[in-house]
Amino acid sequence: MARPVARARRGGASGGGGEAVAPVALGEVRAEAVARLSTGIGELDRVLGGGVVPGSLVLIGGSPGIGKSTLTTMALANLVAAGRRVLYVSAEESAAQIKLRAERLGSAPHALRIPTIAETDLGAVLATLERERPDVCVVDSVQTLYSAGLSGAPGSVGQVREVAGEIMRVAKTHGTAVLLVGHVTKEGALAGPRVLEHLVDCVLQFEGERERTYRTLRALKNRFGSTSEAGVFEMRSDGLVEVLDASARFVGEATRAPGSVVLAAMEGSRPLLVEVQALVSESDLEIPRRVVSGIDRNRLALVLAVLARHGGVGVGSSDVFVNVVGGVRVDEPGADLAVALAVASAARGVALTSASAGSTDLARPTDLAGLTDPVRATDPARPGAAESPPLACFGELGLTGELRTVAHAERRIAEARKFGLQTIVTPEIGTLRAALRILRRPEPAQAPRELAAR
Ligand code: TYD
Ligand code: MG
Repeated sequence: MARPVARARRGGASGGGGEAVAPVALGEVRAEAVARLSTGIGELDRVLGGGVVPGSLVLIGGSPGIGKSTLTTMALANLVAAGRRVLYVSAEESAAQIKLRAERLGSAPHALRIPTIAETDLGAVLATLERERPDVCVVDSVQTLYSAGLSGAPGSVGQVREVAGEIMRVAKTHGTAVLLVGHVTKEGALAGPRVLEHLVDCVLQFEGERERTYRTLRALKNRFGSTSEAGVFEMRSDGLVEVLDASARFVGEATRAPGSVVLAAMEGSRPLLVEVQALVSESDLEIPRRVVSGIDRNRLALVLAVLARHGGVGVGSSDVFVNVVGGVRVDEPGADLAVALAVASAARGVALTSASAGSTDLARPTDLAGLTDPVRATDPARPGAAESPPLACFGELGLTGELRTVAHAERRIAEARKFGLQTIVTPEIGTLRAALRILRRPEPAQAPRELAAR
């Protein structure tokens, strides 16, 4: 396997007396192709960089209930089906509980064949690993295993380090790949997994809202692949299902009501269209609420400040709620413009659709006449809004109100076009103020008073 550069001959302890090591030119280093093991879950394989690397240590973090046990159980079930040796170590649930989960899965027959131990004692787990020598082992979770030799409670920094370190030592000896499950609280707190990030080969983060169906899996660190990959899953009654047509779903479900806009986001190397919604309502609190889901709270603060200062949209005394629909998280600056447009649209009660953008001089030419598949009106009360496809946008907001380019503009535009969104506001429009001109043309039915003031 392609462990980093030569560790073949090592000198003695540093500080004298050590034997010199002959450096090798990188071009002459032999890097054997790594044979990866497919987990049978396309999205997981992709995020890993093409499957599990034998002997590697992968940390899968996420909040409780997000689906870590489900995902890892499904992966092992597929590996068993492919004839691999696997082991599921549960230090959290009883074997009976794991069986119940396995029975719910679509891949149930194979899931029920997974060799499982319910054990919290590190020593016993290590001995089992030595004896079984599986190709892939899941340890669920690193915070609940514990070493009797150490004093700290399970989950303490010392214990977590010891557990991960010892498992890695044994696993590397036998070429066992280990998927280490770790709990991360919403704030990303909990000493646990964070202290392991430097130790492991890959750190995957499983995110989403527990109550919602959609989850994203992304790589935060990957020694064997790119960290820009992400996968989208949906939690169903029979387990996690890969969502391959996420854009189509999110666009199809987009409301087109005031406060809604489609963001052409990038999930790793893949474009993804998501609906960003905002609600602005008069607050009775001294410090109005700023509630976000799916975006960074500080980023909202920045967007609101720029909107007020450079866009003429002040929401200082209002509660502001921003939500990325479906429980998706978009942690990228490219989301700024969508947040700004959604908030402005909500504040003014003007829907953002291709129709509202009709006469606006959009930087990226939009072929409104060429619309082939206009969405049919579903709400006769809002004919204008319902007839036109939603507006798509992306762009980073600068502090002086300018729009800044973001990576992969072409791919974002292509994705929006692919799903029938012809009107796309891109950073080329220049400034936030220019982008907000779209909102100048309210639909007749709901011309808001505020517009007169502009
Ligand atoms: P789980 O994998 O146990 O989460 P984690 O290990 O990250 O704590 O499952 C998460 C939730 O998903 C749990 O509340 C039950 C639900 N679930 C389904 O909806 N469908 C299923 O097929 C399974 C197995 C779980
Ligand atoms: Mg679990």
